Amino acid sequence: TRDGSSGPRVVLVGPPGSGKSTVAHALGERWQLGVRDTDADVERTAGKPIAEIFVDDGEPHFRALEHDAVRRALVEHDGVLALGGGAVLHADTQEALARYRELGGVVVFLDVSLAHAAPRVGFNQSRPLLLGNPRARWQALMEARRPVYEQVASVRVLTDGLRPSDVAAQVEEAL
Ligand code: S3P
Repeated sequence: TRDGSSGPRVVLVGPPGSGKSTVAHALGERWQLGVRDTDADVERTAGKPIAEIFVDDGEPHFRALEHDAVRRALVEHDGVLALGGGAVLHADTQEALARYRELGGVVVFLDVSLAHAAPRVGFNQSRPLLLGNPRARWQALMEARRPVYEQVASVRVLTDGLRPSDVAAQVEEAL
């Protein structure tokens, strides 16, 4: 029921460590479509890694850049789009995703448990919001955001124990 004229084939949302980037690439390969990632867009615009944007300019500035990246990607990109884990917190982004869905777009929430997310997020310093105690911070963040992920998404895929290609197959089934 997608109107076919424009916009991403699918938008992936979910917490850090849910595999959004990996699954986006699996879908891109499967469908021979381009992959876009708002974290990468923001880093390109700012000319520095996200961790540095947080330190130098603060989270509100990062969120503003992120919102802009989401808004543009929803218009310009016709492949697979992965959003940064916190992008859905922005009210404008929630509205933009609601409009995208009204036009037939599909938003997929990649759900994941702490046990499966932790190995992916725990071992580097690239996610400022998880610094200190990554497990506890991830859990708090997921608890607060779960209702938002569920609200903005049209489909939820529980990814625990699945390979990226399995998740991609489930996303395809849901379209
Ligand atoms: C964030 C998630 C990160 C990145 C930034 C903030 C968040 O993206 O946008 O560190 O608020 O959850 P990933 O979900 O790709 O880790």
